[in-house]
Amino acid sequence: MRSYLIANWKNSPASEREALEIIKGLKRVNVYRRLHTFVAPPFVYFGSVAKGIKGAASLASQNIFPGTGVHTGEVTIDILKSFGVKLAIIGHSERRALGETDKDVSKKIKTVLAAGIIPLVCVGEKDRDPDGEHFEFLRLQLRHSLEGVSKENSKKLIVAYEPVWAIGAKAKGAVKPKDLSQSVIYIRKILNDLFGREVADKIPVLYGGSVDASNCVELSETGIRGFLVGRASLEPKSFKAIAECLI
Ligand code: PGA
Repeated sequence: MRSYLIANWKNSPASEREALEIIKGLKRVNVYRRLHTFVAPPFVYFGSVAKGIKGAASLASQNIFPGTGVHTGEVTIDILKSFGVKLAIIGHSERRALGETDKDVSKKIKTVLAAGIIPLVCVGEKDRDPDGEHFEFLRLQLRHSLEGVSKENSKKLIVAYEPVWAIGAKAKGAVKPKDLSQSVIYIRKILNDLFGREVADKIPVLYGGSVDASNCVELSETGIRGFLVGRASLEPKSFKAIAECLI
């Protein structure tokens, strides 16, 4: 079973020229073909990145707009599909911090499913609680985010566990492997309750939050099926090392 590796570039790099440099580094090695590798660049770089990654990775979107019709400033599903987008990151904590609710997330998931795009659904607690309260937060967030997703459609989901406190430059570092194993088991249990064992066991659960070349081996041995990578995905050498951890 091939693992998943998703590069979440967020709002970096600052120019298209730099974006193409990163892609050049990525194309120099062929390890990415042995994984399901996706690159999610800022929308404005879609044209050049889509062309540049051909043969090594697929294009992904960092967000989607769950509607059709006329909407100034939005990028609709039809536009994403015209660029060949295969996967959409939905419910990333940085979008939730801008006001995205579980209800919005559930609507977006259904929109991408209808369009034949894979939804990568992000969930994760803001803080870890020594008494395990964060598990209940995780349960409700996942339940509400997946509201209305049918058992049939749940087979197309990917879930990314991304504890908010482990993400980005101000993070406390990645989650500890032991804690990650526990969260993965718990997420599987919730998916189990929602969709039944047969389907739930097959839904890939990924991890994201301060993944880098130094921690990817131990994090990969926790029952996860891949990584969602922010900062380290902008450095071809680190991204390659992370890919190798998953092979
Ligand atoms: P990070 O970001 O790897 O820079 O912590 C991960 C993410 O936000 O998906």
